[in-house]
Amino acid sequence: MKILFVASEATPFIKTGGLADVGGSLPKALAALGHDVRILLPGYQAIAIHDHGFKVVADLTLPSIGGTARLLQSRLPDAAVPVWLVDYPPAYDRPGHPYLDAQGREWYDNAERFAILCRAGCSIAMNDADLDWRPDVVHCNDWQSGLIPALLGNEPERPATVFTIHNLAYQGLFPADRFESLGLPAHLWGIEGLEFYDNLSFIKGGLVFADWITTVSPSYAAEICTPEYGCGLDSLLSQRRDRLTGILNGVDYDVWNPATDTLTTNHFDVADLDGKKASKQDLQRLAGLPADPDAALIGTVGRLVEQKGVDLITAAIPQLMPRKLQFIILGSGEARFEQRLRELADRYPQQLAVFIGYNESLAHQIESGADMFLMPSRFEPCGLNQLYSLRYGTLPIVRSTGGLKDSVVDTNAATLADGTASGIVFAEASSEALAEAVRRALTLYSDPARWRQIMRHGMQQDFSWRRSATRYVGLYRRALAAADDRGESKG
Ligand code: ADP
Ligand code: GLC
Repeated sequence: MKILFVASEATPFIKTGGLADVGGSLPKALAALGHDVRILLPGYQAIAIHDHGFKVVADLTLPSIGGTARLLQSRLPDAAVPVWLVDYPPAYDRPGHPYLDAQGREWYDNAERFAILCRAGCSIAMNDADLDWRPDVVHCNDWQSGLIPALLGNEPERPATVFTIHNLAYQGLFPADRFESLGLPAHLWGIEGLEFYDNLSFIKGGLVFADWITTVSPSYAAEICTPEYGCGLDSLLSQRRDRLTGILNGVDYDVWNPATDTLTTNHFDVADLDGKKASKQDLQRLAGLPADPDAALIGTVGRLVEQKGVDLITAAIPQLMPRKLQFIILGSGEARFEQRLRELADRYPQQLAVFIGYNESLAHQIESGADMFLMPSRFEPCGLNQLYSLRYGTLPIVRSTGGLKDSVVDTNAATLADGTASGIVFAEASSEALAEAVRRALTLYSDPARWRQIMRHGMQQDFSWRRSATRYVGLYRRALAAADDRGESKG
């Protein structure tokens, strides 16, 4: 099958969160299954095009932009997956974050910037880009590529479209006047189209028009059909429930593997855990914490936003400090959370180390050296760090939501007896419930034999992409059939 995978991030080119991990690894897994997959990304300035060997392969004439864009091509390292960048300097040639300016505000022209990505996607999808390649399926990801299913909707002989929701809270909402300035066809306006409470919604392009919708865990697929998690789109999603599937993300074990990790010095696996002890000691030193092997070291890595329950962590920390434990927290995000974490680090220098910023290598070292990993998310479409934690023998402590619920098995008498326990799962989004979950983890930690049993079980879990990629292929086939049905009912 020929698949065009369109996203706004993919490792190792550009990353702000888990979408990038998926963008770099799902296409690789699809290619390993024998499919012809190509990735399309915006040509951000931050992508080192010369280092990655990008070359111009086509000029794209795109409706609604004055000039032409160029298409640059390279490939994913270690995989036969071509990667295309839309090179359009007025939109992408600027320093900084893919979505935010230096003040942390959305770029003023995000509607235009991602409409260009969508137009380029449509041009390739319809084989109008002189590439002599026509995909069977266009796989779009999150709102940044949401206009593609809408724009392709009426095209004769179009490919099937699949739209994956990585996070429903980000919808690409813009003032209604953008609808005209982007030159979108009039029939796409209205509540049956791209309108959302008088705004233009990019994500609705995917949710209304894609032949199939997916999201990144079965639990999140069910949750987003309810008002509590639906972000105002639950009715629409419920209507399309028969075309909405949850597929859990996988892990690229070439990158996240404690036995071969290129970003850590001490290696280990389930048969030999000595390297993990050394990793913990290194991490404590690096963090300026006492190198006490008996203090439970709890790690967290993530975007510091409401979704991740950062406020639950900051509220639980003072309650937990009397215990023999240490925290290491790496993240960046909202200023109020960064500020609060810094204050706490000043207050508890012997027990809390905070690193504000984005640091790929430290993220790996935390997975490798910590004993436990905290993810008290309010909602979590999939979550990747709990999957990495399982492989690194770092017990995940997670809230029971979305992909966290689908991947971590709580430790209790029954799961200990049948050997399925892999972490600590708690229900309520409160600092008390989180602190209680940590206390449960500490009790387990004080029983080394039991602790190792749970650790080893987690390390043996297989969350590799192969299984999930096979499910995507099955779903592409269903999307193709659905697209045929739509075409026939129109004709
Ligand atoms: P989300 O996509 O919602 O941010 P995920 O758990 O799916 O959450 O993925 C987050 C990814 O981004 C992981 O690979 C994680 O290690 C990485 N990450 C997040 N924040 C940082 C950071 N400050 N430094 C390094 N890596 C980070
Ligand atoms: C989003 C979600 C996260 C998910 C990631 C990749 O950013 O917040 O839960 O793992 O996308 O699908």
